[in-house]
Amino acid sequence: MGSRQLAKQQPKSFAFSASGEKQVKYWLKKYPKTKQRSAVIPMLWIAQKDNDGWLPEIAMRVIGDRLDMAYIRVLEVATFYTMFNLAPVGKHLIQVCGTTPCMLRGSGDLIKICQSRIGSAGTVSDDGLFSWAEVECLGACVNAPMVQISNAKGDHYYEDLDEISMNSLLDELASGKAVMPGPRIDRQASAPIGKSLTLIDKSLFDGSKAKKLKSIPNAPSKPKTSKPKVAKKKPAAKKTATKRGAK
Ligand code: FES
Repeated sequence: MGSRQLAKQQPKSFAFSASGEKQVKYWLKKYPKTKQRSAVIPMLWIAQKDNDGWLPEIAMRVIGDRLDMAYIRVLEVATFYTMFNLAPVGKHLIQVCGTTPCMLRGSGDLIKICQSRIGSAGTVSDDGLFSWAEVECLGACVNAPMVQISNAKGDHYYEDLDEISMNSLLDELASGKAVMPGPRIDRQASAPIGKSLTLIDKSLFDGSKAKKLKSIPNAPSKPKTSKPKVAKKKPAAKKTATKRGAK
């Protein structure tokens, strides 16, 4: 985990960028007028993205003023969640998962690489390209060991790493190459390694195995079609002789 202390050197001012401001408005609209403070986490996140990946104290004050919130409340949130970086980070922030599944699958080796190539956790490499931190489970344990890398392009997972792939990942990032997130072995997402071995029978998905239904259960019953009524012809009235006619 990165340091939860505020950086010693702080900028004097902070303002959201135009796109950051647009996102802030989007989040504020989600909450009723009396609950605007609920937007504090997204606003801190947007401020961090607008400030090269870390949160200066002045940004917390700006957010506090905007949300009519005591500065200490904003500071409490920012210092509690480790997703907020309280000191400058490298262009690429490497977050190495060190929780049990990743640890058992070799995250210790990834940490050693970060230490030897970048320095101790929380320090920024001399070229400004990298910094790193150890974090808790990032929810990709099936692809352990893994890292999340945050940079101007977003926050992406790089998985199924080992010493060789971790070193080449750092080399690729250092050379400015676009690096595809995801597993670094022959695996699609978190599917089994190599070719799929199960659920490969196409007939499972093309509907051919489905029993033909006579009718769809719970379908609305068809309206009864009644034959149009044909008006019965009245039998022609018999001409009866009137008394008068009979005379
Ligand atoms: S333990 Fe590393 S992602 Fe879950």
